[in-house]
Amino acid sequence: MQVICVDYAVREESLAPQGKLKIEWADRQMPVINLIRQQFERDLPLKGMTIAACLHVTSETANLMRTLKAGGAVVALCASNPLSTQDDVAASLVKDYDIPVFAVRGEDGKTYYEHLHQVLDFKPTITMDDGGDLVSTLHTDRIELRERVKAGTEETTTGIVRFRNMEREGALKYPIIAVNDAQTKHFFDNRYGTGQSSLDGILRATNVLLAGKKFVVAGYGWCGRGVAMRARGMGSNVVVTEVDPLKALEATMDGFSVMPMKEAARIGDIFITATGDKNVIREEHMMVMKDGTILCNTGHFDVEVEKPALEKLARERRVVRENLEEYVLKDGRSLYLLGEGRLVNLACAEGHPSIVMDMSFANQALSAQFIVEKGHTLEPRVYQVPPEIDNRIAALKLKSMNVEIDVLTPEQDAYLSSWKAGT
Ligand code: ADE
Repeated sequence: MQVICVDYAVREESLAPQGKLKIEWADRQMPVINLIRQQFERDLPLKGMTIAACLHVTSETANLMRTLKAGGAVVALCASNPLSTQDDVAASLVKDYDIPVFAVRGEDGKTYYEHLHQVLDFKPTITMDDGGDLVSTLHTDRIELRERVKAGTEETTTGIVRFRNMEREGALKYPIIAVNDAQTKHFFDNRYGTGQSSLDGILRATNVLLAGKKFVVAGYGWCGRGVAMRARGMGSNVVVTEVDPLKALEATMDGFSVMPMKEAARIGDIFITATGDKNVIREEHMMVMKDGTILCNTGHFDVEVEKPALEKLARERRVVRENLEEYVLKDGRSLYLLGEGRLVNLACAEGHPSIVMDMSFANQALSAQFIVEKGHTLEPRVYQVPPEIDNRIAALKLKSMNVEIDVLTPEQDAYLSSWKAGT
């Protein structure tokens, strides 16, 4: 393929062949996005669109980018987290697929935002965000671009919370489709994806045995549920902390111990935050933790473990293994932080497996198509993914897994729409 893309920023172009193999391997496990790509190649539903994407730069994201491009869009990609970029994948997207990428694993905050701006320089008609940094940058520093944008999509809970806050304050200037809220997204990606990939990150960074450990999960949303379930499966004694009475009740009835973080802090061996809020593990907790405690986060931003407190309490820091930093506290205890407190599944491992991202990114691709078709009818608000898209993705995924299901008989169908029949 002829490479015409000239403006990009990746770590090392020579990594492209390795990245290409990874992208192709992931693609084998993304049957739904494959089908959508074939349809897009035929119908070109995104022709004339420019999509600015701010997503984790992984092999799964690469296959989404290929799909959007096959649909006729011009696409440009930057990272949605400074520590989640797979440099080989970024190189291959540029060199093999002619897709401009602005992302280097480990980039500092200034470069991260410069890369966001470089993607915005493409003057998007659609934004595709994960966590809300692209949209908030457009709304603050690049407001002149707003007129061109038809609508955007958002991948994760944190971004949707931010956009709902913008909507409430009247600050949101174009419609956003909440991809995260699709059932074929959060039931699977947030639960089974985060459940598996977070443990993967912890294991790659530490190689500790999970069996017999006290494993504390902060937050019992879909991500926390998934992590708690999988940690139990590995033989850990799982403790859940929550602020929401309903979720705390659910965790209790799911068989987990529920207690305040202040108590959990004294007994936990491994802590993971999955709340979307800041300072969930803070100084008062660090003060009572056991020597050797492992801390990590799987929420979108690196604010859940209070890093400034850890730095303040420490007299010494050293990198023990890749993605594992020891903080030696003034009283002699050591606390260990994984992946700088950034999302452990992407900083210390490779994120969710392709088979689950297949559904999340099918929602992204079909939501982009929906924006082209219906964007003009939408207000500057946060919208749900249309249920037809959700159902279509579920049906395609089942088909790809060779799972067949029953259909209602006419009699059953009629029964479900009647009200007269009773006891
Ligand atoms: N978020 C979580 N896992 C991911 C992955 N593999 N690719 C892109 N975004 C992700």
